[in-house]
Amino acid sequence: MLNHVLKPSLISNIPKNIKYFSTTPQNFFKVAVAGASGGIGQPLSLLLKQSDLITELSLYDVVHTPGVAADLSHIETASKVKGFVGAESIKDAFKSCDLVVIPAGVPRKPGMTRDDLFNTNASIVQAIAQACAEACPKAMIAIISNPVNSTVPIATEVFKKAGVYDPKRIFGVTTLDVVRANTFIAEAKGLNPANVAVPVIGGHAGATIIPLISQTTPKVSFGEKELQALTVRIQDAGTEVVKAKQGAGSATLSMAYAAARFSCALLRAMKGEPNVIECAYVKSDVTEAPYFATPLLLGKNGVEKNLGLGTLSQFEKSLLEKGLPELIGSIKKGESFVNK
Ligand code: NAD
Ligand code: LMR
Repeated sequence: MLNHVLKPSLISNIPKNIKYFSTTPQNFFKVAVAGASGGIGQPLSLLLKQSDLITELSLYDVVHTPGVAADLSHIETASKVKGFVGAESIKDAFKSCDLVVIPAGVPRKPGMTRDDLFNTNASIVQAIAQACAEACPKAMIAIISNPVNSTVPIATEVFKKAGVYDPKRIFGVTTLDVVRANTFIAEAKGLNPANVAVPVIGGHAGATIIPLISQTTPKVSFGEKELQALTVRIQDAGTEVVKAKQGAGSATLSMAYAAARFSCALLRAMKGEPNVIECAYVKSDVTEAPYFATPLLLGKNGVEKNLGLGTLSQFEKSLLEKGLPELIGSIKKGESFVNK
């Protein structure tokens, strides 16, 4: 009876742009979350446990995963959940995974930039990428750990050194920037955010976050001042949450939502669903920055087609010009960390 009451409402309450459920009842994929016990890792794992695209959910962290896995394993969905704790279990956690989502690492406190996390998070991402390159070299890798502008180049260099690099399979998750842009633009225009789509390009830090409000669906227009204010709010939205949390971390719940949206979109594309498009930060030749977020057509093998910049307004061109030097610097920093 309870199931009968809960299940339909659970499904109907899931936002339109996260399709957790495949159109056929067939289960397919093994997914790992690295950093699964953290502020993002736990709610993300909860959301992924609700996807019928996932057969096995592997939870890896340096602490607490047996408890998180035991808790999630009681949820009445078909996927099997297993917890792996500590570096000695990392390769077992990732073995034959199709997708590894990485929110492992420290978050910001008020007054810090994302780049201030580099010293701690660079080696965490390097070690996790190394284990992926050995245990699941063909898996899709979705990196959440900051600074994303540098951690994606770090993972890439690790995969290159291991001789298993495929640029179509390594993603920096920038979906939260899109989610925020959709929400803020919808609020400003009195629209339902579920029906608004704003591409956000560039990177994932301050001036490197470039919302393309001129390409919003449905079409919207703003005066110069409002456009400027909305752009700055989207660029500083992470800091807005860091300040509001007063030292207790950064965005976790909205990030878990965003990562679940991206992961489920990628899995649907890997399963063969056509026309799956998401923005993400990937190896790119669209601009002079060797990594850049743009809308991507996703497919069975990851990035099927980079959909590029589209037509930028004069304002957006100036944002791009301003963001590129910082982005290029962060990329070089990540690359030289691995190749030092
Ligand atoms: P958190 O501290 O709550 O959780 C991090 C988890 O990582 C912890 O459980 C910790 O034990 C684990 N961890 C640490 N070292 C590890 C290792 N070597 N191997 C495996 N797990 C390890 O932090 P959080 O709030 O979940 O944030 C995680 C990261 O995500 C931060 O770097 C944060 O800046 C970033 N973030 C990115 C975005 C984005 O849009 N890409 C959004 C929000 C947060
Ligand atoms: C965000 O955008 O919320 C994350 O990158 C976390 C942060 O430090 O702002």
